[in-house]
Amino acid sequence: MTDLRSEWEAAFGRIYRKTFAELAHIPSRILNLRERGELRNTRAVQEVLGAVRAGKRTVLLLGRPGTGKSVAAAEVLLAPVHRLQDGGPHFVGEWITAREYCEASYDHDQRGRVRDVQRALYLVVDDLGLEQPHDRQRIEGLISSRYDDDAQVTLLTTNLTGLEFQEAYGPRVLSRLREVGAVVACSEVVRPGERQNAPSGAEERS
Ligand SMILES: Nc1ncnc2c1ncn2[C@@H]1O[C@H](COP(=O)(O)OP(=O)(O)OP(=O)(O)O)[C@@H](O)[C@H]1O
Ligand SMILES: [Mg+2]
Repeated sequence: MTDLRSEWEAAFGRIYRKTFAELAHIPSRILNLRERGELRNTRAVQEVLGAVRAGKRTVLLLGRPGTGKSVAAAEVLLAPVHRLQDGGPHFVGEWITAREYCEASYDHDQRGRVRDVQRALYLVVDDLGLEQPHDRQRIEGLISSRYDDDAQVTLLTTNLTGLEFQEAYGPRVLSRLREVGAVVACSEVVRPGERQNAPSGAEERS
């Protein structure tokens, strides 16, 4: 009996997670990593989850390509504690790249998506710096409007160095981030394919 129940819960949990994750536009390569049980509790994952649990509302992940920034940011959207908030999966979590956000903000047909991103309780803006330089103000605007809402959590990833980030977005964005948010430097290149336990609390696979 108990076994049947836990089987149901496990299956329901997985289906819900997958549906939610797709609704949130989390890239399938990251979801597949979890589905294959290859997600590892890297320092980047620990630090970003730790920062959000400690109440940091804006977290910038800096680091070179392949250091696990996007995977770590996705963990925050997928952490079970956030999944079943009132209002269902909509507006709870959203994933967008900086470039997609800028493009969507010019596109009348994507107004709904832009609003979802602006209102999402948990938002990942991936790959800051890859948008067109003349679009940077849009990203800055998004970040600062989300600062003003106490309930919203924003995760940013970038390949830029701290200095380049400051040059691109101005010193105010970074200093405000250091004040009220957290900056996580990712340096460990993660090799794919090695199995390890999922981060505790980030996954209930039973
Ligand atoms: N926590 C993790 N567990 C298992 N594999 C991981 C983890 N983090 C990263 N990887 C592996 O490293 C690859 C690169 O990770 P990710 O895409 O997060 O890097 P990134 O820092 O965002 O890179 P880029 O700057 O190019 O966007 C993943 O596709 C995956 O194979
Ligand atoms: Mg990435």
